[in-house]
Amino acid sequence: MKLWSGRFQKETDALVNDFNSSIAFDSRMYAEDIAGSIAHATMLGECGIISPEDQALIVQGLSEILADIEAGKIEFTADNEDIHMNVEALLTARIGDAGKRLHTARSRNDQVAVDLRLYLRKEIAAIKGMILDFEAVLVNKAESNQSTVMPGYTHLQRAQPITLAQHLLAYGAMLKRDVTRLEDCAERMNECPLGSGALAGTTHPINRERTASLLGFCAPTANSLDGVSDRDYAIEFLSCMSILMMHLSRFAEEIIAWCSWEFKFVELDDAYSTGSSIMPQKKNPDVAELVRGKTGRVYGDLISLLTVMKSLPLAYNKDMQEDKEPVFDAIDTVKMCLPVFSAMIDTMKILPENMRAAANRGFINATDCADYLAKKGMPFRDAYKITGQLVYACTQSGRTLEEIPLNELRAISPLFDADVYEALSMDACVAQRSSYGGPSPAETSRQIAMLRKFIEDHK
Ligand code: ARG
Repeated sequence: MKLWSGRFQKETDALVNDFNSSIAFDSRMYAEDIAGSIAHATMLGECGIISPEDQALIVQGLSEILADIEAGKIEFTADNEDIHMNVEALLTARIGDAGKRLHTARSRNDQVAVDLRLYLRKEIAAIKGMILDFEAVLVNKAESNQSTVMPGYTHLQRAQPITLAQHLLAYGAMLKRDVTRLEDCAERMNECPLGSGALAGTTHPINRERTASLLGFCAPTANSLDGVSDRDYAIEFLSCMSILMMHLSRFAEEIIAWCSWEFKFVELDDAYSTGSSIMPQKKNPDVAELVRGKTGRVYGDLISLLTVMKSLPLAYNKDMQEDKEPVFDAIDTVKMCLPVFSAMIDTMKILPENMRAAANRGFINATDCADYLAKKGMPFRDAYKITGQLVYACTQSGRTLEEIPLNELRAISPLFDADVYEALSMDACVAQRSSYGGPSPAETSRQIAMLRKFIEDHK
């Protein structure tokens, strides 16, 4: 018999029973549901809304149910629809009338809202930890590659000389934002909807500050209608996950390119690559490709929930039960991607001589050549033009800029001196790019120290 059967003359149709039920996926919030109920019962007891004896029985009963669920002794049923009614039914079966008092001054609408916030708070902490672990891998790799010269790209064309450290630290900067973005999201989420009731609060003399503080929230939500119908926090969380996955997908794309015979900048560890069922020579970057692919499903999770919430009138609507699966899917996906991607990066072999060889072709020191002339007094626009002519001549004769003899250079501009060859060397080109945030080893060291401190401060 249904908990709400009083109003009804007929049993629920079996199809509706299954259709309506969310226990198959919301059971994963059992610990949060029980924590919310314990806080609620404690507050009800303290406010004199239930007796101290009932309060004690409820808290004891819920703690035992929690232990039994964790020991695998409980089977939930779709007949009890969701995790909230399953727990309540279990409690009442164990402690009788006291169990039936738990739902005083509460609705599943505020209950589910508090459960999801608690659940997300826990998962945000876990995901943040994983991002910081990955960040540490990147920082360590950057540290040992501060003089690993490689071409920096724009339009996927060789552009200017950088180091692998600088390239990795760009992802470090993205991940740093992913962490603070999640922290912002957690902070905004840190209000407790419990006590909003079904939508319009309650006539019982409850203390919402108390349940908020028992559950570690900074305050109760300000408006009862908003308290039960707001899912901004879940949407915000999914957008944090989408942006994080977007970052991973960009990195994945580069790893895939870097593993190709065309680049050969890195070789993935055997343990993090896969073979082909037909082509014996293949070593494929499946991990990177799957991370790139799974970015699509996390975006889908975000768009699902945005679409579910679109145009919903206030306050609670059953549509909102569709919030949980995308949220859980995004959590599972991100938690699967982060450690495997991080380990793949940690174990991959860098091929510095190939990176340097690529840097030596493609005239990526052309800007440096123009800068050399500009520093000697030539207007940059003129220096740019002359260097362009030199590059063109080189493409015709199959030379690099530093292979042009000094007399030829001086025929074009007397400002060229013997020191030009040092100025055009790849190491000098990188070392001289010492503007704040640039790729010079001095600047990458600064970035590394800053990120190390960030990791420590945010653990
Ligand atoms: N299982 C429901 C959900 O996830 C709980 C809230 C149900 N409330 C209601 N009035 N039917 O949203």
